[in-house]
Amino acid sequence: MSLLCRSTGLLLKHISLTPTFISVAGGQYQYILVDKKGEKKNVGFIQLNRPKALNALCDGLMMEVGKALDTFEADREVGAIIITGSEKAFAAGADIKEMQNRTFQECYGGNFLAHWNRVSTVKKPVIAAVNGFALGGGCEFAMMCDIIYAGEKAQFGQPEILLGTIPGAGGTQRLTRAVGKSLAMELVLTGDRISAQEAKQSAFELTLAEGNRLEKRLFHATFATEDRKEGMTAFVEKRKAAFQDK
Ligand code: CAA
Repeated sequence: MSLLCRSTGLLLKHISLTPTFISVAGGQYQYILVDKKGEKKNVGFIQLNRPKALNALCDGLMMEVGKALDTFEADREVGAIIITGSEKAFAAGADIKEMQNRTFQECYGGNFLAHWNRVSTVKKPVIAAVNGFALGGGCEFAMMCDIIYAGEKAQFGQPEILLGTIPGAGGTQRLTRAVGKSLAMELVLTGDRISAQEAKQSAFELTLAEGNRLEKRLFHATFATEDRKEGMTAFVEKRKAAFQDK
């Protein structure tokens, strides 16, 4: 995930937010607005549209998102996809009311939330334009996208601990990579929220440092291989290296 803290308005400047529905096989969308935007109609546009529930990600909504993504993926005119919410909420998480009475057997047996992964498997670039709450599943949903453009009022968090559960759609993994282990653990263990600005700063401070540490370890590890010795020796001896994958 790359997180850019700038006005989502910039991104959406050329995009009219007038609700337009594109019909799909089986009828219109109930929980999202779907359109193709831009002069060349080459930007797939999905707006989460459950304002009364702060775009809580109920099963129906996520099924529709999957369907819209499939449609855009297959549409040769479409080069990139934007997913957005409202000024108040990108999404306030998975739908707690829908989850409230689920049993372990239902979750495990039905592989609950597995279909959300569609967002991260789309081949075309997917951009999340986030303002307001991006909490729990909302934060995870945004992090599944390739790029996040976050507005000034964006707030990210994984408050599942406050519900007696844990992130269930990749939050513990993607947040760690996005903002570093320390802040990710703090957010997951406290349920606190951070602004886009704080997330961006942490991304640079922590992830880069951790990435560098890993890179250094892997670099050092190459010194345990014969091929590294052969490559450097071949350079010094002005000949082509004979690598043996050892
Ligand atoms: N699920 C279902 N409904 C939700 C919801 C959610 N995640 N978040 C908000 N709503 C509903 C509220 O129940 C309320 O509905 P009613 O008017 O019918 O009561 C409506 O949206 C407005 O919410 P609030 O009145 O609470 O609005 P607020 O401005 O006072 O507070 C908020 C906003 C801080 C985001 C608060 O709504 C909140 O804390 N929401 C829950 C956030 C959360 O815990 N998300 C994680 C969900 S679990 C998850 O996502 C698991 C996972 O990893 C996939």
